[in-house]
Amino acid sequence: MLKRIGTIFGVFILLGIIGFMLFNSLRGNSKEQAAGLNIEESSENFNLKEGEMIKLPEVVKDGQISLEKALTLRRSIRSYASDALSLSELSQLLWSAQGITNERGFRTAPSAGATFPLEMFVVVNNVNKLNRGIYHYNPHDNTLKVIHLKDISAELMRASLSQSMITEAGAVLVFGAIFERTMARYGERGIRYVHNEIGHASQNVHLQAAALDLGTVVIGAYRDEEVEEVLNLDPEIKVLYMMPVGKLK
Ligand SMILES: Cc1cc2nc3c(=O)[nH]c(=O)nc-3n(C[C@H](O)[C@H](O)[C@H](O)COP(=O)(O)O)c2cc1C
Repeated sequence: MLKRIGTIFGVFILLGIIGFMLFNSLRGNSKEQAAGLNIEESSENFNLKEGEMIKLPEVVKDGQISLEKALTLRRSIRSYASDALSLSELSQLLWSAQGITNERGFRTAPSAGATFPLEMFVVVNNVNKLNRGIYHYNPHDNTLKVIHLKDISAELMRASLSQSMITEAGAVLVFGAIFERTMARYGERGIRYVHNEIGHASQNVHLQAAALDLGTVVIGAYRDEEVEEVLNLDPEIKVLYMMPVGKLK
């Protein structure tokens, strides 16, 4: 009899342990699940090479957070947890900035005369599956191209008046612009239009970050030439904003 009670007791304890482990593994992913994002099982790096393309995860176009809630939650956040961003989160943030939303190639942000002067880059510090380095976003096929595999975050921080969010963030979204695309049509006024457009795209990222429970801030205070030298982009690309993004503490 005693042996039987012992066995039943043992089974209950075992079930309890399994239940607890299951609950904990699900709880860790609940924020991404709430946002409707895919959950990545592995954080193992792709072992990338320069020039290589990475297909980003499909974006979610009907998340659970209302626009009004995201507007209310949006805040400049300058300190982040050390956890990695997921590739799904990065995909979602880039799409919010410049994702293509119709068959004519129009995007999530308006563009003067549909001249699309913006080019998005990402400095990866800590993103699942990606090596540290600089990547370029192609909104047409939702891919990232590896530009340089080099840890430049400390140099970038120094060029940005030592704003520590640059090194703390999982990734820094870099808003580049080719002014000529818009100025070819609008002349000098095109300069204003490009600046207007950066505002639209960066606000999209701010709201998307709020909806994903991530922290971000826009960085406008940096030394232009130094940032452009550190990023080593084509000279026609001017950096107009940077947005470090990280998990909330
Ligand atoms: C054009 C512009 C440049 C900014 N540059 C920086 C910056 O370099 N560093 C920073 O920490 N915040 C920067 N900010 C964020 C503001 O400090 C922030 O929006 C302001 O304190 C209001 O806080 P909130 O965004 O939480 O409403 C910038 C904001 C704007 C609009």
